[in-house]
Amino acid sequence: MATPTTPPTRSILTADELVDLSLQVAGHPGIVTTRDDQWIVKAANQAERAFYEAAYQNPHHADSALVRNYLAKFAGTVLFYPPQATATQPEAAVQVSGQDQVQAKPEEGIQLANQFHNLVEPFIMDVKIGTHLYEASAPTEKKVRFRSKYGHTPSFRYGVRIAGFHIPDPSNPQGAALTLDRESLRAITTEDTPAWVAKFVPAARLGEDYASALLEWLQEDFAGLNRALGEGDGANLYAIGASTLVMYEGNVERALPLFKEWQVAHTASQVEAARRIRDQLFRFTMIDFGHSYWEANPTVLNGIRLGLSNLVQIVKSIRTGQPMEWQEGAKGNVDETALV
Ligand SMILES: Nc1ncnc2c1ncn2[C@@H]1O[C@H](COP(=O)(O)OP(=O)(O)O)[C@@H](O)[C@H]1O
Ligand SMILES: [Mg+2]
Repeated sequence: MATPTTPPTRSILTADELVDLSLQVAGHPGIVTTRDDQWIVKAANQAERAFYEAAYQNPHHADSALVRNYLAKFAGTVLFYPPQATATQPEAAVQVSGQDQVQAKPEEGIQLANQFHNLVEPFIMDVKIGTHLYEASAPTEKKVRFRSKYGHTPSFRYGVRIAGFHIPDPSNPQGAALTLDRESLRAITTEDTPAWVAKFVPAARLGEDYASALLEWLQEDFAGLNRALGEGDGANLYAIGASTLVMYEGNVERALPLFKEWQVAHTASQVEAARRIRDQLFRFTMIDFGHSYWEANPTVLNGIRLGLSNLVQIVKSIRTGQPMEWQEGAKGNVDETALV
């Protein structure tokens, strides 16, 4: 891919500045946060580092609705020493020249806004979007593996797959009432998917009004991201395996007073005030750009937009009680060979 390489990392975070992320619902384990809990630090490959650097350094990308509204705030690429790196990764230990002590080799990563900062009981859902799960140039072994892993999920045909799901235990905010493991996530069929999205926003626990606003926000953001991918540099996003990460405040003692304030601001058409309150309750970002580039590719983009259209449809079907009608991609926007 014709992506410029990023300059070397800007800063170094030591192991004692970092702690393990308490809640990681998908992906490779090992995401950490800064001690103030405001940032996550994720080990990132060259593609993901370059993607974020370009997103925030190139004014065309930075000005796009995609970057402004839907990417997690990015603080730069970093070198970091994971907590207990020497204990868990002895192979990463290297001799630092001129020093006697053995020091773990730092990881190269990115620093992003922690989406569940300040949420007391975060509900979390990670949804992979797109019909293309690997690059055309991927080794055959990977293609075969991905088809067998995900061929029966809605990914290849409809561009949607629930890849992470967590509902907190109200009696123990640190504990999980339900966190789906990899096997259970993979077993979610096309048919089951709308029911899982519905389960993500339980009106019985949250109250009808708050739950209904959360569904409205979810629909707004799936649709808004879809629009952002049709305009400006959003249309130059080539992303394979990216997700939308959704979380919200599930602690009703904290959420409901804020939600009341939102209702007042919203009713009075105080758009900015309403938005600030919404941001405290509900977080929506696109993440996971390890196979992403700023390069127009309509086929891949259409597969992502198909997924987002289907997610809008899912939320609509939950809100109206109508059955879900899945939309098929135009021929060529779906990897036909991957369908089973
Ligand atoms: N900015 C963030 N804030 C909070 N949690 C995050 C953030 N980014 C990622 N995570 C957590 O880490 C998981 C994996 O992140 P992801 O970027 O998809 O990593 P991977 O490249 O290993 O798939 C997400 O499902 C989510 O639980
Ligand atoms: Mg991921």
